[in-house]
Amino acid sequence: MAKNRTQFLCNHCGSVHPKWMGKCPDCGTWDALEEYKAPTPDARSKAVQTGDIAQAAEPLALGQIDEADAPRQSTGIGEFDRILGGGLVPGSAILIGGEPGIGKSTLLLQVAHELAVRREGASGRGGEGGTKKAVKAPDSSSLPLAPSPPRPLSSDSPVLYVTSEESARQTKLRASRLGVESPGLLVLAETNVERIINQVHKTKPSVVVVDSIQMIYKPGLPAAPGSVTQLRDCCMDLVYLAKTTGIAVMLVGHITKAGTLAGPKIIEHIVDTVVYFEGDRFHSHRIVRCVKNRFGSTHEVGLFEMTGEGLREVADPGNLFVEHYGPQGPPSGSIITAAMQGSRVLLVEVQALTASSVIGAAKRKTSGVSSDRVAMIMAVLEKRAELRLAADDVFVNIAGGVKVVEPGIDLAIALAIASAHMNRPLPAGTLAVGELGLGGEIRSVPQLELRLREASRLGLGHGIVPHMGGHVPKLGGMALHEVRRLSQAMADL
Ligand code: TYD
Ligand code: MG
Repeated sequence: MAKNRTQFLCNHCGSVHPKWMGKCPDCGTWDALEEYKAPTPDARSKAVQTGDIAQAAEPLALGQIDEADAPRQSTGIGEFDRILGGGLVPGSAILIGGEPGIGKSTLLLQVAHELAVRREGASGRGGEGGTKKAVKAPDSSSLPLAPSPPRPLSSDSPVLYVTSEESARQTKLRASRLGVESPGLLVLAETNVERIINQVHKTKPSVVVVDSIQMIYKPGLPAAPGSVTQLRDCCMDLVYLAKTTGIAVMLVGHITKAGTLAGPKIIEHIVDTVVYFEGDRFHSHRIVRCVKNRFGSTHEVGLFEMTGEGLREVADPGNLFVEHYGPQGPPSGSIITAAMQGSRVLLVEVQALTASSVIGAAKRKTSGVSSDRVAMIMAVLEKRAELRLAADDVFVNIAGGVKVVEPGIDLAIALAIASAHMNRPLPAGTLAVGELGLGGEIRSVPQLELRLREASRLGLGHGIVPHMGGHVPKLGGMALHEVRRLSQAMADL
């Protein structure tokens, strides 16, 4: 047996180094290098070993490649399809990350069930109804060994749910609670990746779910389960399985406290699509965001609500994230803004609070928005609107656990801080949208009309918006106040 070379893998950026160092030379993270045993050829999986050069793929001109080889398959859960860019692509590898207890297993069990049910429905009708005609599942001995165009998802193959964290019984209990049961959904409790791949070749499913990737191991590797070596190699093998057989593989990954995937970034690079659960598990709604997608747009979010019967889709968020304050109106420091989340507008409430602090030790805490962005907005407020915040603690929060990264909510943050500082509430039903420039100017934002239409649909009566140069949309009952500078917007307070 060839000797294993020991290398060191950065668990932050995934770079490999020949010796241990305190700081990763590539990404600068301290104490991130971990021992990594590069697999020797004989430690590679059987599937890779038996690769035959004669069966290798031939180069093709783009015109020769048939797009129809990769039809999308709806998962039956609209919000999940939306995140994936329209459905599941055969042969794709999807990573679903999130904190423990946020609902990853619940969502995937529901998706697996829907896929299995559709499969039965489709085969019962002779392969009609959205799915392509039934394709004979290939014999495992004739599986192509080099990446080739994936076959369409077969309409009569089962869905395999591999549980490496829970026993099959626990999964069954969860399934009964969710009311999911179908003969097309197979559950396998297994942690050995080679046996998992073997079972996949035996059962020939169209979709495999592995819950979770951190708990599976490869016996040939001289590394403990859960180590970066194991994680990387198991992930590689499963992605290779997806690419060679056209089976869609969904992997569950846990997230560390810092919000990154526990394990090297490298597994994000290997898979096609990375989806994260956002928000916290103390709220009933869950936001699922796509951060990488080789087959569709990123920044799409899916909205779900955790109920007693599992996750329920929220197709129209409407006023879900906006509080109704009743006749006395909102408190100071609260304002509504319209944020773009992929192709959808989400109305969210920005809340700010200022409180006197010890001079020189003022706290600035944010949740849902970047603290750098808030620091910039506070500097603009101080310089261009003469608001003295140096002696105040400032807290900014997006209600409901939503995260917003776009600058279109700058104006709302600025007005919320100003309103809290002056202790003057804004009128109920006020919306503010606009990007704040360093000179105190209010800039236009993409999809302004779409945002205003949504706000108007949900009954907001007043909007503070950037100057629109005469292109003011007709919005029914909503009055617009166009502003060019922050000082003009502050006049609304
Ligand atoms: P789970 O899917 O097990 O989380 P993960 O796999 O991400 O660790 O979700 C578990 C949480 O969801 C748990 O706190 C209970 C809650 N839950 C419900 O509220 N309703 C349900 O129907 C189910 C199955 C779970
Ligand atoms: Mg789980």
